[in-house]
Amino acid sequence: MTASPAPRIVVALDGPASSGKSSVGIAVAQRLGLRFLDTGLIYRALTALALREGVAPEDQPAVIALIPRFELADDGSGRLARVLVDGADETDAVRSHEVDAAVSAVARQPDVRAALLGLQRRIAAPGGIVMAGRDIGTVVLPAAGLKVYLDASVGERAGRRIRERGLDPQGDEAAAVREQLRTRDAADSGRAVAPLRAAEDAVVLRTDGMGLDEVVDLVAGLVVAAETGGAATAPGVAGEPVAGANRPAAGTPSRSRPSPAPAAREPLPRVLEVAMRLDNQQTMLVRMVARIAQWIGHALAAISIEGLENIPRRGAVIIAANHASNADPIYAGAWVSDALRTRRLHWLGKRELFFWPVFGWICALGGIHPVDRSSADIEAYRLASRILERGYVLMIFPEGTRSPTGALQEAKDGVAQLALRSGAQIVPMAINGSDLVWPKGRRFPAPFPRRRVRVRIGQPFLVADVVPPATDRRAAKTAATTAIMGRIAELLEPRQRGAYAGAVRASATEGTARDPA
Ligand code: CDP
Ligand code: CDP
Repeated sequence: MTASPAPRIVVALDGPASSGKSSVGIAVAQRLGLRFLDTGLIYRALTALALREGVAPEDQPAVIALIPRFELADDGSGRLARVLVDGADETDAVRSHEVDAAVSAVARQPDVRAALLGLQRRIAAPGGIVMAGRDIGTVVLPAAGLKVYLDASVGERAGRRIRERGLDPQGDEAAAVREQLRTRDAADSGRAVAPLRAAEDAVVLRTDGMGLDEVVDLVAGLVVAAETGGAATAPGVAGEPVAGANRPAAGTPSRSRPSPAPAAREPLPRVLEVAMRLDNQQTMLVRMVARIAQWIGHALAAISIEGLENIPRRGAVIIAANHASNADPIYAGAWVSDALRTRRLHWLGKRELFFWPVFGWICALGGIHPVDRSSADIEAYRLASRILERGYVLMIFPEGTRSPTGALQEAKDGVAQLALRSGAQIVPMAINGSDLVWPKGRRFPAPFPRRRVRVRIGQPFLVADVVPPATDRRAAKTAATTAIMGRIAELLEPRQRGAYAGAVRASATEGTARDPA
């Protein structure tokens, strides 16, 4: 007896208008050999029929009676993208302005939605499909194998539509596109039945600033991970977890489908979106936050900083620091931020940070970019790569989590991978003694007795210079990780060198690192 192959995954892909559901869904489906259906087409087909027959959207029994008259047909490439009405192809007609204007009124009728459920579920039943819409993860297919919620700010989505249609961004038509998106967002989110929202177990992807290919890679990675039951990885990211770059307490990617942190489901407060744009401008506000952080740093310990001049003024830079205390972001960031002058320091941080009052605002101004832990480490990696591609400065704690002992722990592979791929200059940074000021496991810092925190910044280097030529990828990563962590260890007191005490070069320690008095 031969076992029939297991049915393939059902993917629910939801999100607001122009978030990229169709373009991303079609590309992912094509790449992975899945079918694709944009359920918007169903509402559009029904709306077109109702308009033609003169049926009012509110006349629900009459609208429902129209359902058997349309059908969705394959366009020849696995996409259910053709609409047949009474057997004739009406695909173009369903995208008309008239349908645009009337579709929301039809879509908010509860009995009509209920009547369409069976159709959508029947299409999904054999499996192997990406189904896009507004309520697929929440209502239509609550048991989908993977739920992805694509999101982006109105500005970003409008920008995409404006570019797609070749409009003048300053013109009236562009203004109308923005306005129409806002109206449709409000109608789809505010309606009583099946409103637009992310399912509790959806992976939420904010795609501001991300190109289509990037989002497609990400989603395809999630689908592959969900189908194979493996950790979420994106094609081309080598299946490796990425070091938690300033992601305190961030877990390793889960083997099962990731479940989101509560905050992942909520949009970020709008005011923060402005502060956390991926740009390279250090504003007065950023400087002010750095100054405040310096005061806090001084209040907690006697602080000395050495080697700020070693940070390159140009090009992509990874500053890699040890991580032993909640106070590290202050010691790693406040003075560096000042020294960078007009350049901005970028970090990655868990999304939950941004929901704390005041603190969230400080994080955003401090150059921390939110990473949704539910999408595991791919999102962190992609974001970090973008920061470096643009030639910015990225701060990373390669160990991922704080050391419980204050001594270096094994680093994750991510920093080496980023360094090898981006060609960024690496600046090692050692934060000496912060573990005594605020050890892991303590709720509050201990400013008394007064301790000394000594931050030491080493010479920049390129990992290409420390990895022997023609080493295979895995060996190259190990060599790069050892080199980066070894350089940090060289700047640390011997008691904090931990896992990398053996990677310290003899020449580097002469007369320098000493345990504090
Ligand atoms: O124009 P766009 O591609 O953004 O929209 P669409 O996906 O074609 O959907 C058109 C309209 O149908 C939306 O504005 C929603 O009101 C409705 N719709 C829905 O209510 N539920 C779905 N699952 C899909 C679409
Ligand atoms: O289906 P939905 O309304 O969610 O959006 P779409 O029609 O797939 O995407 C709207 C436009 O944004 C298309 O021109 C896409 O090519 C573009 N897009 C983009 O430029 N970058 C993304 N990350 C996603 C979509």
